[in-house]
Amino acid sequence: MENLKRISYQNWGMHQNEKTEIFVGRRLSESFKSLLREYGKGIILASSGAYRAKREILEAYLPGGEFETIILDDGEHLKSMPFYSSLIEKMLQMDLSRDDVLVYIGGGTLGDLSAFVASTFKRGINLIAVPTTFLSQIDSSIGGKNGINVGGLKNVVGTFYNPSAVFADLDFIDGQDNMIRDSLPEAIKYGISIDPDITEILNRYDGVRSLSKSGMEELITKSIEAKLSVVERDPFELKGVRQILNVGHTVAHAIEAVSENRISHGRAVMMGLYIESKITADLFGGFGISPILERFASIYGLTLEFPPEIIVDKMISAIRNDKKISGGEILFPAVISPGETVIKRLSIERMTGELERWLKQKGK
Ligand SMILES: NC(=O)c1ccc[n+]([C@@H]2O[C@H](COP(=O)([O-])OP(=O)(O)OC[C@H]3O[C@@H](n4cnc5c(N)ncnc54)[C@H](O)[C@@H]3O)[C@@H](O)[C@H]2O)c1
Repeated sequence: MENLKRISYQNWGMHQNEKTEIFVGRRLSESFKSLLREYGKGIILASSGAYRAKREILEAYLPGGEFETIILDDGEHLKSMPFYSSLIEKMLQMDLSRDDVLVYIGGGTLGDLSAFVASTFKRGINLIAVPTTFLSQIDSSIGGKNGINVGGLKNVVGTFYNPSAVFADLDFIDGQDNMIRDSLPEAIKYGISIDPDITEILNRYDGVRSLSKSGMEELITKSIEAKLSVVERDPFELKGVRQILNVGHTVAHAIEAVSENRISHGRAVMMGLYIESKITADLFGGFGISPILERFASIYGLTLEFPPEIIVDKMISAIRNDKKISGGEILFPAVISPGETVIKRLSIERMTGELERWLKQKGK
């Protein structure tokens, strides 16, 4: 028997008269395959990492027949122009039309590539997402953004395009404690900045391993709903509202750049959340966020302070060089109190001045 939660939202853009259905649960392959029967044929792109780790679960998703499956080795190399072109050529050889479907079964890397391919192939072919990592279930499969990297710039080419369905099957992430811990800061971010219920769920446990199956399902469902609550107000990132999802990320991106990606995105986000909570407290009087982060860092084995090789001057020049910053100002999402985030305009000077003051105080 399938046990699932269903979240649906009105699609925007090309398929605006349709809904995107998100299913969260376990053993979702039968629901997936019955949906697939609505399409004549299609291509299924599956992650080799998911295949290695969860072969039986992934195989249950493969329908055979008119659906050709390609297993791809994961990595940022997938999100490239040559790879994109080779997939388009493959789909042309398969004689796929817009009525057919592209499915991806994998994490955010494969998802970003697949959704970009789907949105541009013959101006848009149907897309179904089966995210297999914790991050892709709570974040990258939701909200419609996709992209590939060009000239060393991440996600510099991409579109907004929603799948008709997302199957977040928790069977894929069972036992993947390190993977979950590494991306947990994104869920913590939703908790502090959007929905305090998420903070409450995380407070109930004392480590990733102790998260019960129902707790994990609740965490994923609430995280998806939190992201959607923001995305629906600003689907094309035109109103500044979506900036709320960037809490912690201005500093996190600088940490990733200075560490040359030795510090993973998730761990950099945790450090970024903490430093930005301190800056917010100083500038806008937000209190109560740093202690929540200190508690979660200790419960879930995350680090708040970055290693000594990341020195303040390098951090500041990384922020100055951040390509997302224009006109000398940062749209800084400040968490004023749990679940309440406001977007403040901050000059780079003020932001870097605060950062410098805070880091020097810590002896960096
Ligand atoms: N589009 C968006 O809104 C958005 C949001 C956040 C991140 N992203 C993108 O997502 C990407 C990162 O995604 P990710 O964290 O899912 O990483 P990933 O897709 O690179 O996967 C990480 C690793 O996990 C393996 N894997 C996949 N499923 C598995 C499973 N079930 N069990 C064990 N291993 C498994 C993969 O083979 C890979 O080695 C980045 O490219 C980032 O830019 C996009």
